[in-house]
Amino acid sequence: MKDIIPPPPSIVRNDQQSIQELFQKYVVPSYARFDLAFSHGSGSHVWDVNGKRYLDLGGGIAVCALGHANPEITDALVKQSQRLVHVSNLYYHEPQGRLAQQIVRHLAPGKVFFCNSGAEANEGLFKLARKFGHDEGRFEVITAIHSFHGRTLAGIAATGQDKVKKGFEPAVAGFRHVPFNDLPAMRDALSPATAAILIEGIQGEGGITPATTEYLLGLRALCDEKKMLLLMDGVQCGHFRTGRFQSFQRILENFEPRTPNSKPFLPDGIAMAKSLGGGFPIGAFWVREEHADLLGAGAHGTTYGGTPLGCAVALKIMEVIEREQLADNARALGDWLKGELQRLANTYPHIIKSARGLGFMLGFELADKEQIPAFAGADKAASIQFVNRLHEAGVLTIPSGAQIVRLLPALNLTFQQAEEGVTAIESVAKSLA
Ligand SMILES: Cc1ncc(COP(=O)(O)O)c(C=O)c1O
Repeated sequence: MKDIIPPPPSIVRNDQQSIQELFQKYVVPSYARFDLAFSHGSGSHVWDVNGKRYLDLGGGIAVCALGHANPEITDALVKQSQRLVHVSNLYYHEPQGRLAQQIVRHLAPGKVFFCNSGAEANEGLFKLARKFGHDEGRFEVITAIHSFHGRTLAGIAATGQDKVKKGFEPAVAGFRHVPFNDLPAMRDALSPATAAILIEGIQGEGGITPATTEYLLGLRALCDEKKMLLLMDGVQCGHFRTGRFQSFQRILENFEPRTPNSKPFLPDGIAMAKSLGGGFPIGAFWVREEHADLLGAGAHGTTYGGTPLGCAVALKIMEVIEREQLADNARALGDWLKGELQRLANTYPHIIKSARGLGFMLGFELADKEQIPAFAGADKAASIQFVNRLHEAGVLTIPSGAQIVRLLPALNLTFQQAEEGVTAIESVAKSLA
């Protein structure tokens, strides 16, 4: 049979220009991409198609928990794919049950729903909130200004940033935003229709802002008082990145049960994705035991949620993280990195204003673009220009807003690699000072 459309010519020269031309012609231009095209990676290094090596401190935006081309992930993928790649959620299989068990083990009694992304994990939490409040006519979810919760219609309605909403009106009803870390503002915002509060433990896209202990404890008390769900988006800050499984566990470390009778802090639901699959697309949300059966048979679902393949990979990642104590690595090396970023802020105060974050979720704030002579007058934000200069120096980082540069490296980053990163950041800061 003759092809209706002739097959495309194969890419004979795997070069940057031909790849970019393919994108320009065939890929929806919804991303502002850097002029880099990658071909392969190993651990915390990736190579572009021109053969240049980069130290990856962005980790695919907090995704590549074990770096690139990890042999244990490859092995898990191959072995599971030889047994069973997919069965519908009409049936049972062991990897999904085991992965749910592992997630519960790191949190508290409850149950897990599996999906494919962070946005979907949050969507599930919104449905949980609506189901929870339904019989009393409550449906509203209050979130924080500068939050980010995904790009679906409800995700952008929940996100506390106007730029993601523009052009997609009317917004899904039932979401309002209040300043982050401001308990009185949250209390004032509640209405009789409010069913839940959703926050990130550390705002990621909003510029690396951790919740305070008082805020988390205050929100829990407020939710208990008003009978609302406290939901947390752990998509970026979760999965051992801060040194604990979830960021609230790290933030509240010194506040966990002080007396035998005091209850430990616990949200009612937590969204997860990104590092959970280390690059294999998988998302999940955990629901506390009390509400774990709210979404009964037929209430929610997705074809690919929790496939044997995805769950086998996620299980392997958890196994490696625990065996190699990578949460401790993220904590110790992250704290060292933060100290170094702070040192750079002290040394080059006209370029780097401050360092913030926990573990391997770090950011440094740049001075205003107009105050950095080499950046002044250019169209691009200071964060983008700094990230571009780091590319030239062979390091990948992630911009966040106009002035923050984020580091979200693999949890198995080594000390030597962290030093290599600091040297590059310092050389860029020095060249701008
Ligand atoms: C905190 C947070 N929530 C949700 C999402 C959306 O996740 P996904 O892109 O997998 O849909 C992101 C993505 O950056 C995120 O950082």
